[in-house]
Amino acid sequence: MNNKNKKSSNKEKWEQAVESTIKRFPERKETFTTSSDIEVERLYIEKKRSDDHLGFPGEYPYTRGIQPTMYRSRFWTMRQYAGFGSAVETNKRFRYLLDQGQTGLSVAFDLPTQIGYDSDDVMSEGEVGKVGVAIDSLHDMEQLLDQIPLDKVSTSMTINASASVLLCMYIAVGEKQGVPLEKLTGTIQNDILKEYIARGTYIYPPKQSMRLITNIFEYCQHNVPKFNTISISGYHIREAGSTAVQEAAFTIANGMAYVDAAIESGMDVDSFAPRLAFFFNAHNNFFEEIAKFRAARRIWAKIMKEHYQAKDPKSWKMRFHTQTGGSTLTAQQPDNNIVRVTLQALSAVMGGTQSLHTNSRDEALSLPTEESARIALRTQQIIANESGVADTIDPLGGSYYVEELTDRMEEEVNKYLDRIKEIGGAVQAVEEGFMQREIHQNAYETQKNIEKEKEIIVGLNKFKVDEEVNPDLLKVDEALEKAQLASINTIRQERDQEAVNEALTALKEQTKIADSNLIPYILDAVRLYATIGEICNVLREEFGEYTG
Ligand code: 3HC
Repeated sequence: MNNKNKKSSNKEKWEQAVESTIKRFPERKETFTTSSDIEVERLYIEKKRSDDHLGFPGEYPYTRGIQPTMYRSRFWTMRQYAGFGSAVETNKRFRYLLDQGQTGLSVAFDLPTQIGYDSDDVMSEGEVGKVGVAIDSLHDMEQLLDQIPLDKVSTSMTINASASVLLCMYIAVGEKQGVPLEKLTGTIQNDILKEYIARGTYIYPPKQSMRLITNIFEYCQHNVPKFNTISISGYHIREAGSTAVQEAAFTIANGMAYVDAAIESGMDVDSFAPRLAFFFNAHNNFFEEIAKFRAARRIWAKIMKEHYQAKDPKSWKMRFHTQTGGSTLTAQQPDNNIVRVTLQALSAVMGGTQSLHTNSRDEALSLPTEESARIALRTQQIIANESGVADTIDPLGGSYYVEELTDRMEEEVNKYLDRIKEIGGAVQAVEEGFMQREIHQNAYETQKNIEKEKEIIVGLNKFKVDEEVNPDLLKVDEALEKAQLASINTIRQERDQEAVNEALTALKEQTKIADSNLIPYILDAVRLYATIGEICNVLREEFGEYTG
């Protein structure tokens, strides 16, 4: 009997054993599926795949990772998202986390900053310093980055609609520190499409937003070449309730829309694509998440090389940050979240992430305390230094299940990409509400499954205990708002108001010229301590506001 027949008869024998076992011990479910409704088979067996289907690490199509040596040379960046209250408070937390071994910064801004309002704007009342740090002017940015060497630390900024202003503030602090702009490293999220789809912190209509985004691409290419100009995000799409496949598909579709916009603005694809970055969620289904990361990398590589004809291999590499799934955290039995975050972080590492944020156990209740943030960082450090998983590349590569699931994910993501292409691309799909509808449908199904206990959330719908809510939660000092208002008034009194007015007028004039890059004019205004509200309001007057 040849090997192939021998294998199939062994499998038939096994299936007979299964049948008799199931009579006594029926399986837990009729069918097992992933979050993306991909059926999970009882057993996966060997399936031949060619080497170039996977590619070696650091080689097209990068299924197994984007670097030839991955974590054997350098661990992923441990980059904890942090920010609350004043720039001084947040600077303290940043320096604490760096002292604890964090290897990159990640700034959370408060809502007024994200939507381009000054702290003393009526729209900001009650939100100053709440969900992130309050940044009104270059003065606050200088305090935020005090004693942090910008030539050594890379900083991610979660800012979208007002990204151009915060980028300029960061550049201006770099100038004050004497750091050459070409040495500045970091990332600006700058991904407005997912704000329309899932997160909501947008200001301007799509067309004008795309102009600011591509202005950043062009400005950084010439002036801040090591800065990642966008973090195309699936994280929030998943947090809004999408499946893993939808997360990857809608993110990649958005990525294609940004590439199209940059090419339409006259840029060569290899001039900006190497500095595009991505940002994904690490959710609960361990193997599905790993397959999602591996499939997304391969899909993006093929799109960049084959569809856009990019020639530079750096344009083909999907470099991404991962944050463990905030929406999976429970307020009940918060310490259980440490286990969830560990498994999610492990899936991101096994999936080849370049940078990682691990959520703190108390984040379903409030912003993290210092102790919770430290445990979250230690989770990464234990995975990196004690588990051994970083010592070989793509350790689950070759697993019958992971490779099959990676292929299936690729198939399902491509089906969505084809549908979005039929609609006319991501911008059109967003304006028609296609992605939003798909996400809301899945969110609804998921919630129903949890309520029916078809999906078990430990401590929430099963294995519950009566418990006191954790009293040791971080509280943002209410007095902060007053202090911030006083600070912004001082800035306004001390600056050269005439020069500020001239800079804002120049910006206003340039917004009327469609192909003018606005970044240099925003930078001039920022250097003179114009506030984020003043700058964003000039753009509001010219661009209008998006009402969704
Ligand atoms: N071999 C050779 N070189 C290597 C290497 C290896 N094994 N590992 C790393 N390197 C090199 C890289 O090539 C890079 O050099 P280069 O810039 O010259 O290419 C350098 O070492 C740094 O490595 P990475 O670029 O991989 O790591 P970074 O951490 O600097 O960048 C990133 C990672 C994903 C590209 C970047 O975009 C990033 O840091 N993103 C973070 C985004 C983020 O933190 N977002 C948080 C958002 S929070 C949010 O939105 C949620 C809220 O709303 C709730």
